[in-house]
Order: sequence, then structure tokens, then C-alpha cells
Amino acid sequence: MPRPLPDALLKVPHRREVPFARLTTLGVGGLCRWLFEPTTELEAQAFVRACVREGLPWRVLGGGSNLVVLGNLEAPVLRLALPKELRREGARLTAPASHGHIALAEAAATLGLSGLEFASGIPGSVGGAIRMNAGAYGREWIDVLVRYRFLTPEGDLVEKAPEPGEFRYRWSCLTGGRVVLSATADLAEGDPARIRAQVAEYREKRGTSQPLSKRNAGCIFKNPPGQSAGRLIDQAGLKGLRIGDAEVSLEHANFLVNHGRATAAEFAELMEVVRTRVLELHGVELEPEVEIWRE
Ligand code: FAD
Ligand code: EPU
Repeated sequence: MPRPLPDALLKVPHRREVPFARLTTLGVGGLCRWLFEPTTELEAQAFVRACVREGLPWRVLGGGSNLVVLGNLEAPVLRLALPKELRREGARLTAPASHGHIALAEAAATLGLSGLEFASGIPGSVGGAIRMNAGAYGREWIDVLVRYRFLTPEGDLVEKAPEPGEFRYRWSCLTGGRVVLSATADLAEGDPARIRAQVAEYREKRGTSQPLSKRNAGCIFKNPPGQSAGRLIDQAGLKGLRIGDAEVSLEHANFLVNHGRATAAEFAELMEVVRTRVLELHGVELEPEVEIWRE
């Protein structure tokens, strides 16, 4: 029987029993028993401090576009709901972590600021993108990130510039209970028409190579150094391999798609089959790119 949560935590806005299918782009998973949605940084801090005091493990959720959730989750989940205000200082743009990632790229384009075109097709939140050091078409967040603000696992507020070693391919130091609150990108004044043309080109490429019409969580495995996970899976003949409603996409082999009623267990099994077959055929150990949550 899970123990009751303390009053200090329950003062933070929250909902109960929310299906992860509604909180993630893949659309699978059990119930999020406790979803906390602070609307201010102070409330987020109160959440973390209350969890620390009680010795409760917690998770941070953004747009749920890089997540496979297996089963129900009793642990409190924090999903920031900060005001969607952007701050511009010269060519620098600061966004709250809960701001939509694609919406930020669009806002930058509208303001004639260049540098976030790569982000224009990457769903989720700004916080998730910083945590994952999201990237596409040869660019990633660390190329433009000049400051970030976050809560430490103890709930202290820190704002700093990134340092060497803190961000690399699809990885950052912002794990282990750190909560990104906002990020500042250093962009360049540019011609809005050119920025829009670049965004359109990236969208076109994405539209022809990725299964955007079906529910998915982006690429499932990281690209091994110098190789493409998609190509390795494709060469293993796994496109179209289906377990229940979970399938290796016919359009891009590193995407697993949900045809509607897939379960988390089906995705877990499909990921394992793909990983094993690629290891047998190519001798390459694929590492998940998605985050996997289980109790
Ligand atoms: P979530 O999925 O909610 O969370 C991912 C991880 O970030 C979790 O560990 C979570 O705890 C953590 N997290 C979330 N918010 C915070 C926060 N505020 N503070 C600390 N940690 C946090 N990714 C790419 O890099 N490049 C691509 O080209 C790309 N294309 C995609 C295309 C599609 C169609 C889809 C569905 C996904 C794609 N992705 C891509 C994957 C995904 O969109 C990115 O990883 C995205 O940045 C995740 O953000 P999110 O808010 O959805 O994070
Ligand atoms: N390929 C195949 N078969 C496939 C898929 C790809 O042969 O089924 C080949 C392509 O023909 C191409 C090569 O593999 O020659 C690379 O494919 P692609 O250009 O689609 O890029 P990717 O390496 O598979 C990466 C990122 C994507 C990002 C794109 C564009 C990873 C794991 N994936 O994909 O990011 O959108 O580049 O920059 O790094 C994500 O992280 O979730 C994601 C979607």
C-alpha cells in the first residue's frame, strides 16, 4: 500500500491517475498515479524539497516525446506548467522549460533569429530538449545554449553557463533529479525569409524519411559512433516486424510505431528483438535513445 503524500507536496497543483497514453507521444504505459504541475518555479522548488524531505523518488516529465513507460508509476511525476513567456535580449532568447520546443523554434523564426532551425521538427518541451541535448541535421542544443537554470536534486536554484563535458550526443548532466527551469539560446539576427526556407527544407526532409503520421517516440536507439542505427536495423530485414500493434516502421527502421492499441509490453519485446537481431547480425550493441520508465 503506497504511503500518503505529505501536505507540503499536496499544496502543489496536481492530478491523479492520468494515463501515460495521454502524456506521451507513443501512447502507451499505465497510470501516472500523481502528476504534479507547478505553475511557478517556487512551486517546483517546493515539490523537490518536499520529496527530498520525505525520501521520495520522483520523475520529471516534459512533452513525453522520448519516453516509453512500462506499467503504472507510483512515484510523483513533475511536469512544469510555467507561464509561456519568452524573453528576448538582443539576439538571445530565453524560454521556460515547459515551453513547446517546436513553438520556440517558430517564435525564433518569426523574430528573425537564426540558430534554432534544427529544432523546428523536434517535438516535446524545451526542458526535455536541453536534458536530451536534442539535435538534428548536424546541430544540437549545446551549439546555441549559453545559460540554463535548474533545480539541483536538493531543490536549490542554480543558473549557469554550460561547461565542457556537460552535454554530448543525446546526453546531458541534467539527470538524477535535476530539473531544467529555463534555457537561453544565443542566436543570430537573420533574414526571416531565409530562416523560414531552412525550416521548410528540414520539414520536407523529415516528412519524407520519418513516420510522422503514426504515434512514435522518435528514434528508439542511439546511432553507434560512425553508424546509423536505422540502416543497421533495416539491413537486418526488420522493417515491418510487428508484435501486436507495435511495429518497426516501414518508413524508418529506427522508429517503432503504435498502430493504435499497442501495449508497453509489446514495445519492450519489440525493442529487445531488434537489439538482439542487430547484435547477432552486425555485432553491434544498440543503446536505447528513448528513456524507459518502470517502477
Ligand atoms: P520527455 O520525453 O518528456 O522526457 C525525456 C527525458 O527528459 C526524461 O528523462 C525526462 O525526465 C527528462 N526531462 C523532461 N523535462 C525535463 C526537465 N524540465 N528537466 C529535467 N529533465 C527533464 N530528438 C532529437 O534529438 N532529434 C530529433 O530529430 C527528434 N525527432 C523526433 C521526432 C518525433 C516524431 C518524435 C516523437 C520524437 C523526436 N525526438 C527527437 C525525440 C524527442 O522529441 C526529444 O528527445 C525531445 O527533446 C524530448 O523532449 P520532451 O519534453 O518530450 O521530453
Ligand atoms: N537509413 C536506412 N534505412 C532506414 C533508415 C535510415 O537505410 O530505415 C539510412 C538512410 O538512408 C541514411 C542513414 O540511414 O543514409 C541515416 O538516416 P537518417 O538521415 O534518417 O538519419 P538518422 O541517423 O536515422 C538522425 C537522428 C534523428 C534526426 C535525424 C536528422 C539519431 C538516433 N537519430 O537519424 O533524431 O531527426 O538524424 O538529423 O541520432 C531522434 O533522436 O529521435 C531522432 C529522430
